[in-house]
Amino acid sequence: MIKSVVEAYRSLEKRDLQILRIIEAGHRRHEFVPEELIARWARYRREEVLDSIKRLHYHGFLRRNVAPYRGWKITALGYDVLALHTLRMQRKILRLSPTPIGVGKESVVYAGETPSGFKIAVKFHRGGVSAFRYEELFRSRVAKFSHLEDVFNTRLSAVAEFFALSKIFEGGGLVPEPIAHNRHVVVMSYIEGVELYKLSDGDFKKIADDVLHTIKVALSLGIIHGDLSPYNVLVGKRSFVIDWPQWVPTSHPEARRYLQRDFANLSAFFKKCGVEIPLEEALDIRYIDSAREFFKEINKMWFL
Ligand SMILES: Nc1ncnc2c1ncn2[C@@H]1O[C@H](COP(=O)(O)OP(=O)(O)OP(=O)(O)O)[C@@H](O)[C@H]1O
Ligand SMILES: [Mg+2]
Repeated sequence: MIKSVVEAYRSLEKRDLQILRIIEAGHRRHEFVPEELIARWARYRREEVLDSIKRLHYHGFLRRNVAPYRGWKITALGYDVLALHTLRMQRKILRLSPTPIGVGKESVVYAGETPSGFKIAVKFHRGGVSAFRYEELFRSRVAKFSHLEDVFNTRLSAVAEFFALSKIFEGGGLVPEPIAHNRHVVVMSYIEGVELYKLSDGDFKKIADDVLHTIKVALSLGIIHGDLSPYNVLVGKRSFVIDWPQWVPTSHPEARRYLQRDFANLSAFFKKCGVEIPLEEALDIRYIDSAREFFKEINKMWFL
């Protein structure tokens, strides 16, 4: 089984990708898309279709079901190559690092480059951590596709992260610049730096000021990070807050609890470095309603 998405993508022929896209479309109706349907929809001879399916299965892009009918389902790796292919066609990505720069529970992150030579980070979402997954609007939109819940959750995470990055970046916060998103993948600018938790010395006052600035910008836009910790701050010349898929709107009933937890994580870390964070001042902010605008985004999404 292939481990890296880059290696996986290279192993595919044009026809394989087309077959994979057909199966993706077939998932609207079927958890396992009947082999018969795939063969009928594809503009290839039956042997060619079966040959592609065999290769896609061998490389780990498909899972098979044999009873009550022979059918195929796309794996996480399969969706990775579909998204990568689309982003390459849209000229958002030229190349990716051969191995990931970060592997977490909820994502795999690669470094890369755009066709114009801009350095990027490409985040493939794996989990569905967005606070909006429990919202009525999201639930009702995906109700018809309960067999695709994992797919929708990872896509929701990507859209949520892209939304938060866009708002905060426009608002002048220190976050990676969002460049594109497709399916469950987010492309953003690459931040040169180290994770804050790894830093043993440095100007911690300046770092804290940068992080607080970004958190305040986000708050003023109605956005609470929700997973703030020294793991999600990258320190270079300036300090950037990353990892936003789980952001929580300030209108959320539990908003205050999330916000307090974020601040508790931060202030505990900075305290050890001799920096006090002025909490009351940071929390004294007038919020706007970010949830409503985000729901509009969800409404626009077709998800499949
Ligand atoms: N824009 C970026 N520039 C440089 N490196 C990045 C960027 N985004 C992510 N990384 C690297 O990838 C790692 C993981 O990214 P991120 O924190 O966004 O996801 P994650 O930790 O896997 O998600 P989760 O916390 O939900 O498991 C980071 O710690 C960082 O090393
Ligand atoms: Mg993280």
